[in-house]
Amino acid sequence: MNDYAALLIPLLIINAMVQLLSFMLGYLSKKFGYGKPVEVKLSDEKTLVGQSGETLLSLLARNNLLIKSSCGGKGTCGECRIACKSEEHNAVIAWNSIERSLIPENELKTAHRLACQQKLKQNISVSLPGNSAFFNKKTANLIKFEAISISYKKLFFRLPDSTDFKPEPGQYIQIFIEKDSDIFIRSYSIASFSNDGIFELNVRFVEDGVGSTYLFELKEGDEISFFGPMGDFRVPENHCGPLIFVAGGAGFAPIKYILLELYKRKFSDEVFFFWGVSSFADLYDSDLLFSLAESNKSFHVFFSVMNYSDSQPFKLFKGNVIQCLENFWIEKPEAVVPKLILLSGPQKMVEKTCEFFSRNGINPQSIIYDKW
Ligand SMILES: Cc1cc2nc3c(=O)[nH]c(=O)nc-3n(C[C@H](O)[C@H](O)[C@H](O)COP(=O)(O)OP(=O)(O)OC[C@H]3O[C@@H](n4cnc5c(N)ncnc54)[C@H](O)[C@@H]3O)c2cc1C
Ligand code: FES
Repeated sequence: MNDYAALLIPLLIINAMVQLLSFMLGYLSKKFGYGKPVEVKLSDEKTLVGQSGETLLSLLARNNLLIKSSCGGKGTCGECRIACKSEEHNAVIAWNSIERSLIPENELKTAHRLACQQKLKQNISVSLPGNSAFFNKKTANLIKFEAISISYKKLFFRLPDSTDFKPEPGQYIQIFIEKDSDIFIRSYSIASFSNDGIFELNVRFVEDGVGSTYLFELKEGDEISFFGPMGDFRVPENHCGPLIFVAGGAGFAPIKYILLELYKRKFSDEVFFFWGVSSFADLYDSDLLFSLAESNKSFHVFFSVMNYSDSQPFKLFKGNVIQCLENFWIEKPEAVVPKLILLSGPQKMVEKTCEFFSRNGINPQSIIYDKW
């Protein structure tokens, strides 16, 4: 075999493989109809046109609508439930394993699907369960930011018109991000809100994270699109009795807004707040928390830090937030029985804290959480 033939044969093989691949793609696209227009009729008779293959959640978001979906389509929260019917068949029933594990049995019977798992294939009509509703897209501009450490940033946004934006303490927004023609939705809790429409987010940077990188790279004046406010992580207005809050990292954000509002209305029952971070540099707003403790003798704050040097300006617990809580529990006066416990932060921390309270005889119904 001469040199020319030795070069030609691999080229012919590669060419044949490319032809075969494009034929297979064409066949699959014809068979499954990817990219074909598909109509989705909403409960209010509005019809959206999507492309086969895209998810119902992404179609809604592209059309400036969203339903509650705190995990942003990762298939973990189970909130994006929606009843789907096709024109040809009465119900669309091919649930995947994520849907089977997250949709309650009674809703499986009524053809509910997860909008983030439902890939459009045929024309369908959808309706929302119970009293859930569509959220409309809003915009806000970054007016200032504050870098706390290499991992944390505070961001302050203002809405052009804040008349219909009144977040309750503990609520969050879902930010809409378009990147390389894909759509991403990420949830961030409101850390404070003032009546002139300025709201604050506290963001922890996640390596290669779409949402946190997007927010970390914003410059003053940049506009964001978002849905909300939404969520039920809150202290009921008429609540009385001792409260425990436990936060991991940026899980402080919703608790900060709740605490600020509680003490505006002069809450006087005992409040114990445990906050854990990885390094001392990540602790922010300690002045604010100390001043709350100074003016409200029933407010107690405990900081836990995984790593820090010995010379720190105030008392810290070395370790994670659950160890700090365990330490407190051993010495806690018997009279302190929490009526309500709010947990906020990474999933593992929240689950381990729930286990801790369960071991210590706390009724799970007195615990509410935001986990991610
Ligand atoms: C109700 C709610 C409120 C929230 N509030 C806040 C808030 O106030 N501030 C805030 O910073 N975040 C908050 N989050 C988390 C936030 O929505 C994002 O999940 C987080 O910012 C990571 O998203 P990302 O797009 O940057 O990373 P992704 O693109 O989702 O993930 C990139 C990679 O990092 C991994 N990863 C994702 N999260 C973590 C993590 N926590 N630790 C380590 N690895 C991770 C992923 O598995 C993936 O491999 C909240 C979440 C929920 C559900
Ligand atoms: S958006 Fe969370 S499960 Fe669908």
